[in-house]
Amino acid sequence: MPDQPRPDCPSTLFSWEFADDPYPAYAWLREHEPVHRTTLPSGVEAWLVTRYADARATLADPRLSKNPIHHSEVAHAKGKVGIPGERGADLMTHLLNIDPPDHTRLRRLVSKAFTPRRVAAFAPRVQELTDRLIDDFQARGEADLIHEFAFPLPIYAICDLLGVPREDQDDFRDWAGMMIRHGGGPRGGVARAVKRIRAYLADLIHRKRESLREGEADDLISGLIRASDHGEHLTENEAAAMAFILLFAGFETTVNLIGNGVYALLRDPAQCDRLRRALNEGDEGLLATGVEELLRYDGPVEIATWRFATEPVVIGGERIAAGEPVLVVLAAADRDPERFDAPDVLDLSRTDNQHLGYGHGIHYCLGAPLARLEAQTAIGTLLRRLPDLRLAVEPEDVRRRGGLIMRGLRELPVTWGP
Ligand code: HEM
Repeated sequence: MPDQPRPDCPSTLFSWEFADDPYPAYAWLREHEPVHRTTLPSGVEAWLVTRYADARATLADPRLSKNPIHHSEVAHAKGKVGIPGERGADLMTHLLNIDPPDHTRLRRLVSKAFTPRRVAAFAPRVQELTDRLIDDFQARGEADLIHEFAFPLPIYAICDLLGVPREDQDDFRDWAGMMIRHGGGPRGGVARAVKRIRAYLADLIHRKRESLREGEADDLISGLIRASDHGEHLTENEAAAMAFILLFAGFETTVNLIGNGVYALLRDPAQCDRLRRALNEGDEGLLATGVEELLRYDGPVEIATWRFATEPVVIGGERIAAGEPVLVVLAAADRDPERFDAPDVLDLSRTDNQHLGYGHGIHYCLGAPLARLEAQTAIGTLLRRLPDLRLAVEPEDVRRRGGLIMRGLRELPVTWGP
């Protein structure tokens, strides 16, 4: 008999108590039912893959498609697996919803424009944005780090990188707020936000294309328009869908990495002091390994985005029928004791740390260099500039945001100084 209650859905899995600390339930699943069939809160049936080795193999398995068309219950699942309503449909034809050969072609094109060099050159701007946000609340001695810091930083950063004019960036902030508040479904606020974003991006891409004729522009959208591979370019719609996924794949994830990361640090004063001391001594190495560890320990993406079996497959001894959805639980895999020593311990200097927080295989996170840059700048600058940063409420009173795929906080009230 298991020593903990069986995490049957929906009684235990995906409840609010579960959201606070899903790790014991995931440990039980890893040990007793590593590939577990469950009914999601939306009513959709899906398999959860929880062991590291199975998770890594599943993420790279070409028999699993990203295209929701392969779900055996597409009509039923519409709106429940992030399949867009018709109005936003074209924007949803993006990297995370397509398979090779289209995926290969689009990924090759975007990689020509979204290069590690472009991200490295962006570092001073990320530092400037970070400092400006902290300037706004530093003198007050208290802040909600989600709303005042973790939320605005990535949206302004990616808007700048893409080349969204400054005067329009607050609109994106509002649209992003709507998407995050209403979750991934296509109804209500999200449908409205997607519609506005689509119209805005179509117009922006058109204007960028016009101005490219007049001379060189160095933003990412212009780079996407210019990128060519064997004479092939992105169509206008492909460029819009690409800009959309860059805006939104990199938004809530980075909010959550900063939020969950700072929360984990503030709950572990010994590790936090160790990092603060290293930074004060000019040692940036611990910040780099530390951000990777925060991703492994309590990362922003709890479950990788949907995959669907295109033929019968066996994962971890379970037979999965064609058309069934498979969800890879990154949060469970990254705490697997078969792969990580003392997986439930936060160790900022952990070096054997091939976590799956950015996924694996052909859909491996395209924005990982930017995410690392933003998280290291954000966390490093907070610890350097706000002495004795600490939680302003009891750790248990910090509220989480619901949602299947993402794992993040609703708010993070902090205080600092004497
Ligand atoms: C894909 C995590 C930030 C752009 C992914 C995947 C994960 C992930 C797990 C794979 C999903 C799957 O296979 O189902 C993260 C985390 C981030 C982050 C934890 C921050 C901490 C960003 C940023 C950008 C970005 C800043 C861009 C500006 C993308 C794109 C894909 C992706 C475009 C799809 C790649 C493809 O399908 O080929 N990300 N991401 N991400 N990410 Fe990120």
